[in-house]
Amino acid sequence: MTDRRVALVSGAAGGQGWAIVQRLRADGIAVAACDIRVDALAAAVAESGDADILPLSLDVTSEEQWAAAIDAVVERFGGLNALVNNAGILHRCPLENETSEQFEHLWRVNCLGAFQGMRAALPHLRVAAEPVIVNTCSTGALRPFPNHAAYGASKWALRGLTQVAAAELAPHRIRVNAVFPGPVATPMLDERIQQRLAASSPWQRLAEPGEIADAVAFLISPQASFMTGAEVTVDGGQSLQIG
Ligand SMILES: NC(=O)c1ccc[n+]([C@@H]2O[C@H](COP(=O)([O-])OP(=O)(O)OC[C@H]3O[C@@H](n4cnc5c(N)ncnc54)[C@H](O)[C@@H]3O)[C@@H](O)[C@H]2O)c1
Repeated sequence: MTDRRVALVSGAAGGQGWAIVQRLRADGIAVAACDIRVDALAAAVAESGDADILPLSLDVTSEEQWAAAIDAVVERFGGLNALVNNAGILHRCPLENETSEQFEHLWRVNCLGAFQGMRAALPHLRVAAEPVIVNTCSTGALRPFPNHAAYGASKWALRGLTQVAAAELAPHRIRVNAVFPGPVATPMLDERIQQRLAASSPWQRLAEPGEIADAVAFLISPQASFMTGAEVTVDGGQSLQIG
């Protein structure tokens, strides 16, 4: 084990994931950047020219792929201090048209994926210095957005999982926290929806991915050493407005 801190970020090819990778690198943390879209990821890592970003193919719904990814990061960097469960998918549909298949699929990626990630990482986090987990929830896990049955349920489940893990892992001094982004300017939201959500925002804009990455980096940092089970909302006031 080296002194350098090491993080694994899932969904790292996406808008927020890549911003988190870059932000953690600015803090000197070596990063395993993981995504199911391995070509996009490899291209971003190659363009960065940064040897301390390790690109890895990972489908978070696969226990086998989690085991392989954790092995790879430990082999390359010597340990694992931080796990960021950022991978996620969004799907909107009225409740009456939603299918069990879609509902289950979103839960698998957005909640089961984080569960499997935590299980795979735990043996290494237990022996790491200042171990920490950050899960990306959503304001959709604070408020009930219509037409988001599958997404909302998966993120409320992830919120609950985060709380249980924080309580259970406190005796092991593993901090577990969650960020709750409001609308963020990433490919997850199409242009029309971005414009609509910006217009209704108290700040009249969406979050930039780097603003979420700053909150994640803070929760990972020693400045958050007494924070566990925290629910950090980063939404420009969105959830103040929704009843
Ligand atoms: N964009 C928003 O407005 C918003 C708001 C609140 C919360 N979030 C959450 O933030 C997180 C990041 O989303 P984003 O905005 O960067 O969206 P994004 O679509 O840009 O990135 C999501 C990434 O997750 C990856 N991914 C999807 N399924 C995966 C799987 N099975 N295994 C591994 N990787 C997988 C995608 O390939 C993509 O790179 C998600 O959990 C999302 O639910 C987003």
